[in-house]
Amino acid sequence: MTTVRPSKEALNSLRTIPLFAAVNDDDLEAIAELLIERRIPKGQTIVEEGLSGDYMYILAAGEVKVTKLSGDGREKILELLGQGDFFGEMSLLDNAVRSASVKSLTDTRILALSRSDFLKELRHNPDLSMAVIQELTHRVRQMDEQASSLSFQRVKERTQGLLLRLAKGSPVREGRRATPVLTHQQIADMIGTSRETVTRIVKRLKNQGWLAQEGKKYLVPADEV
Ligand code: CMP
Repeated sequence: MTTVRPSKEALNSLRTIPLFAAVNDDDLEAIAELLIERRIPKGQTIVEEGLSGDYMYILAAGEVKVTKLSGDGREKILELLGQGDFFGEMSLLDNAVRSASVKSLTDTRILALSRSDFLKELRHNPDLSMAVIQELTHRVRQMDEQASSLSFQRVKERTQGLLLRLAKGSPVREGRRATPVLTHQQIADMIGTSRETVTRIVKRLKNQGWLAQEGKKYLVPADEV
């Protein structure tokens, strides 16, 4: 079997993925040869909670949601991931089943890396390992914040906190930053409340002038993000 050397463009586009930002050119070229590209239509389950996992995935384009079933069978959204994010690494690292499900919210393009290749590259490449550790640390920190906000904050503050977090990094326009496209149900699933409550709170926040809307995106005060 002949392997095709990755093109300069392919390597440049891998370089924009935070996971590979610090990896040197030779190592990146070796990794590029291991990645398998898959196109996933909108609305498909890529990873299923409770099953065993053989691949981790890097999101080259599109958006996915990470969800977990709660005890009463409701779907809780743990996180929304976008271009450059990765998922499916946990079960490869701890040999347990998939901790959550991951579903495509848009048509997506993912780059799959097999368990053995992922573990081999982590052992061989400290810059890659550091990038994975940093992202996992970031997720634990976020989970800690969500846990404390669940116990201490009222629903309105949880809604505001979530919208501010999701708007982080988007460009400032007229003093506001925009979240990704969101439904009331998705907000409710992310902060552990009902859709009706979110609808009431969104209305109140708009009346108070704190929140604005542009299509299905929410606009929050940039100086609070
Ligand atoms: P894995 O357990 O293999 O499969 C489900 C994936 O969802 C998991 O790996 C992580 O990549 C991802 N995931 C689980 N929990 C979170 C979270 N709190 N934030 C972001 N991603 C997560």
